[in-house]
Amino acid sequence: MSKRCLSVLAFLLLLCCSLSIFAQTKSTDAGGHQWWQHAVFYEIYPRSFADSNNDGIGDLKGITSKMGYLHDLGVDAIWISPCFPSPQVDFGYDVSDYENIDPMYGTLADFDHMVAEGKQQGVRIVLDFVVNHSSDKHPWFIDSKSSRTASHRDWYIWRDGKGPGQPPNNWMSTFGGSAWKFDPATKQYYYHYFYAEQPDLNWRNPAVEKAMLDTTGWWYKRGVSGFRLDAVDTLFEDPNLTDNPVLPGTNKQGDPNTDEIHNKKLPEVHEVLKKLRKVADESDAVLIGETWTSNIDELKEYYGSHDNELQMPMDFMFTTVDKLSPPEFRRQIAQVDSAGGWPVFVISNHDKVRSYNRYGDGKNNDAIAKLMGAFYLTLRGTPIMYYGEEIGMENNDPKRKEDVKDPIGRTGWPREIGRDGERTPMQWNSDTNAGFSQKDPWLPVPLTYKTHNVATELKDPNSVRQCHVVSPQLQGESRTGGIEHVGLAPEGNLQPRRQRLCLRQSEDLGGDAAVIRKRPRSDAGTVRSHHRGSDEVIDF
Ligand code: NOJ
Ligand code: CA
Repeated sequence: MSKRCLSVLAFLLLLCCSLSIFAQTKSTDAGGHQWWQHAVFYEIYPRSFADSNNDGIGDLKGITSKMGYLHDLGVDAIWISPCFPSPQVDFGYDVSDYENIDPMYGTLADFDHMVAEGKQQGVRIVLDFVVNHSSDKHPWFIDSKSSRTASHRDWYIWRDGKGPGQPPNNWMSTFGGSAWKFDPATKQYYYHYFYAEQPDLNWRNPAVEKAMLDTTGWWYKRGVSGFRLDAVDTLFEDPNLTDNPVLPGTNKQGDPNTDEIHNKKLPEVHEVLKKLRKVADESDAVLIGETWTSNIDELKEYYGSHDNELQMPMDFMFTTVDKLSPPEFRRQIAQVDSAGGWPVFVISNHDKVRSYNRYGDGKNNDAIAKLMGAFYLTLRGTPIMYYGEEIGMENNDPKRKEDVKDPIGRTGWPREIGRDGERTPMQWNSDTNAGFSQKDPWLPVPLTYKTHNVATELKDPNSVRQCHVVSPQLQGESRTGGIEHVGLAPEGNLQPRRQRLCLRQSEDLGGDAAVIRKRPRSDAGTVRSHHRGSDEVIDF
């Protein structure tokens, strides 16, 4: 080959390399942070956020109509709980088509419109990807169940029983009863870690893996900025079906407690996460994990040994601190910091009693809600706010079994009352049904909607909501650890006298100003706001 040809070849090679590097370049800020590191995320439970067609159930057009509200709150990305076609046995966590929108929520055109409006308002869309299982009404499962030789048979986990009427092993469904359901037609059992209507996908089958990875790519092309990955801990099971050790006592469903060492957190999970991450990286997308870890080493693993798995594994150990306990918070924050990955803070979600109830003492609930907002929204890391948390929404738990909608609340009543209480409609104003819908909503709104609603709180400079507005300046400071939380310092405390701390952007955050606002109080204290390298001490 001539010298000239060689240099042309070398030039083309160089060009290709730089193009591919360019394609993978992440959008980072001046401090080297990626978009999701200086973002505030906000979880939306779509059934309950805003109802545009007054059928009592929220929808995508409803979400689109509230993009301005989200923008003003300082939200950069919304994670929408599943809005795909679903029989709604687990309210969307039973998906029957991964590449469409449930008609109850709208259409793909509504989805595209929502993405476009989000772009206008600087709000990205993150979807919820139910990776562990599909609905039993998904065409894959319908085919799988049709015969032992069906082409999708091996897309799910089918096994013979141990003997007549005996499931393959002692694994229990976390939603109650055995995790195996017998199919009389093909005379085998299929495995379901959640409801029987949620059969587990067989991730050991490369065809399943390919279909699921392709689905993420399909949504990225449609403008999605990432996924919250549902139930990643349960993706794989021991192929030998070894029984789990039985522990003393029973759970809320009355089943024997077991140590789920053979059907949870298997190492194979990490190989799948790496593959999902590779696809995500091609679109500068983020992966958030529903990662129920019991110690920091487990959490660390979810980031991946080379930062090649989840960028944002949620630290649920933080949510186990159910009281205002500075030493406990300090311990948790130090631990998550030591994991080396980017911390992700959450205090409520659609599966957990609202933070307003968990932290509230019954007397100072609003003050405590303000404190909690001011606190976790300014920690170094990325916060995920749950809709309604910003206005001090509280749980509205069902009082009678016949009112319960969540199936686990019906089977487990009264020890397990289900999750309806934390999923009630967003409180927009003090009109009927809190302005959510003109029709009676699918779940009743709590009585406090008269005082705790967006319209009323926007007018009140001392409202819970005003302590949840995250301005860009505040975000900049907090994401890099620029805010010191004195209440958490060894000598500090989070006693009631400190509960009036409130972050305000309008008055206190002009440019480089301090972030913790003085409130008129008789019992004065001090708040230190560590700011741009210098300490300011403010009396209050
Ligand atoms: C976790 C989800 O957050 C929960 O709501 C759901 O019931 C289970 N995964 C099953 O998908
Ligand atoms: Ca609707």
